[in-house]
Amino acid sequence: MKKRYRVAVVGAGIGGKHVEGYNANPDLFEVAVICDRDPERAAALARQVRGGAAVHGAYDDALLGRADIDIIDICLPPFLHLEAITRALRAGKHVVCEKPLVGSLAEVDELERVVAETKRVLMPVFQVRFGNGLARAQHLMRTGAAGRVFLATAQTHWSRGADYYAVKWRGTRAYELGGAFLGHAIHIHDMLTALVGPVRRVSAMMTTRVNPIETEDCGGATLEMADGSIAVLSVTLGSADEVSRLRVMCENVTMEGHGEVYASSKEPWVFTPKAPKDQAWLDAALAGATAGQEGFARQFEDFHAALETGAAPPVTVAQARASLELITALYHSAATGERVSLPLTPAHPGYHGW
Ligand SMILES: NC(=O)c1ccc[n+]([C@@H]2O[C@H](COP(=O)([O-])OP(=O)(O)OC[C@H]3O[C@@H](n4cnc5c(N)ncnc54)[C@H](O)[C@@H]3O)[C@@H](O)[C@H]2O)c1
Repeated sequence: MKKRYRVAVVGAGIGGKHVEGYNANPDLFEVAVICDRDPERAAALARQVRGGAAVHGAYDDALLGRADIDIIDICLPPFLHLEAITRALRAGKHVVCEKPLVGSLAEVDELERVVAETKRVLMPVFQVRFGNGLARAQHLMRTGAAGRVFLATAQTHWSRGADYYAVKWRGTRAYELGGAFLGHAIHIHDMLTALVGPVRRVSAMMTTRVNPIETEDCGGATLEMADGSIAVLSVTLGSADEVSRLRVMCENVTMEGHGEVYASSKEPWVFTPKAPKDQAWLDAALAGATAGQEGFARQFEDFHAALETGAAPPVTVAQARASLELITALYHSAATGERVSLPLTPAHPGYHGW
């Protein structure tokens, strides 16, 4: 009999999507509490929980001291993540936390020490990575069928306006911690590295042209990946239509996501074999790929398996660290005009914050 973990979801914005992910795994999780300082928002979300949930008005010791809660799931604004995660780990809870995990490489390294000390599991959220289309692409990469990667493009062409920035923490360095590269494009860049591998060098330009905000809302970057291939990133919050598209040109096949804005790893992906490879070759190469739940539901399902077996969670702190290392390099390159080489050490000027 599998253990059914009891969860408190803290933050009732994107927390609603987390609830859907837990609701999809009713044998594995029970959302017992919705915590939000906005009582109406908390109550509305509690009603969406399968079987209902209690409401708690503050992220406090009373919540963290509850012995019947196993997991604290943090969906608070970014500037609150570090303290909220640390408190939950020290209270003996496993923790799920939204992106961006924290605000610097120094903070991630501090968190890794707290995780080691408390022996709890911390799982950063990158739910977009869990899609059956991307899984097929990963299968072609893992088996070697795709061949060498030549070039990848990652488009985050989204639309954000005054209504979105009416929420006070957004668009500010102090509270959102960054702009479109951190808050929006982080997902597709995570998909890129999940597929092609780590980044070796970064060159970026950024600007703010769409909204009257402090943080960037347009930019581009060129990456040299560790395998020697090139990736080109384009990011804007001023597109008329919304597209999130990853396209990877390899020796034997070109792989392309369909571009749906929040579900770009899901099917249908298009795989085009490169002559002399043909469709029969492609069908055989894709034959071993597996499909399952997607998005939050899949990330949480795999999290449960990790908790039960003691294996690493489906998104690790090290992977969130790699994504924040890329962010640090992108912001440093954009600010200085330098081409930045990874890995970044604690001596790097961006180590304590970008
Ligand atoms: N994974 C994704 O696709 C995705 C999408 C959107 C947002 N996010 C991330 O999720 C996080 C939250 O974003 P959001 O858009 O849901 O924000 P939001 O402002 O809509 O919701 C945050 C909620 O937290 C509550 N809150 C704030 N401080 C609190 C406190 N001290 N105690 C209790 N409740 C408190 C607010 O009342 C609010 O309801 C951010 O880190 C954001 O980057 C991730």
